[in-house]
Amino acid sequence: MGGDRTGHIEMSKLTIALTKGRILKETLPLLEGAGIEPLEDINKSRKLAFDTTSPDVRLLILRGVDVPTYVEFGAADVGVSGKDILMEHSGNAFYELLDLNIAKCRLMTAAKADALPKVGRLRVATKYVNVAKAYYSRLGRQVDVIKLYGGMELAPIMGLADEIVDIVDTGNTLIANGLEARETIAHISSRLIVNKASMKLKHFQIEALVDAIGMSVNDLAGLADGG
Ligand code: PRP
Repeated sequence: MGGDRTGHIEMSKLTIALTKGRILKETLPLLEGAGIEPLEDINKSRKLAFDTTSPDVRLLILRGVDVPTYVEFGAADVGVSGKDILMEHSGNAFYELLDLNIAKCRLMTAAKADALPKVGRLRVATKYVNVAKAYYSRLGRQVDVIKLYGGMELAPIMGLADEIVDIVDTGNTLIANGLEARETIAHISSRLIVNKASMKLKHFQIEALVDAIGMSVNDLAGLADGG
């Protein structure tokens, strides 16, 4: 870890908060392209902070929903976060500098496959409470939003909700649970966010990082296009 034997973490390093899971898998090649690789295998460790081949850069491995919070409070200088998480997060003490073009999916509404459109007040289950309220309000629909933390697809089947708002990638989870996608709320990908104070205090380090990752994003896009 980025600390001495007492577990103390030096504060001069550039700290990047990463989202674990699928986003992490797609982020590591981008970082590698920018010359930043963890010194040990993240997937084989229970640690949450990792030194890297770039001596001034440390990586934190977090739940996606916590990444904007770390960056907002300056506990991390930079973060990689899904746009869905950023849309739901209410603070704004960071800049969104790059679309990393990874972990692409859609934020959608979905309902039981055989359900007729419901007239009147809707019950909506989601972990994206703010996004859902804003979306249905734009449509002029009256909704009761029920906060869930996962497994949203079960809610319509069990009669807990009429609709859900959730991420759809392949659509397999919806199908497996007898649901169908209805409306797209937003196209989602992961973004690079930067703490506003860090942007001033560590300007050169961050500028170099953003440039290098930006090139990495373009390189990978070129490869995907067969270029
Ligand atoms: C997400 C999302 C859906 C699923 C969609 O869940 O909440 O359940 O992926 O993917 P699909 O369209 O390819 O089936 P995730 O596995 O990230 O776990 P979560 O429920 O903890 O968010």
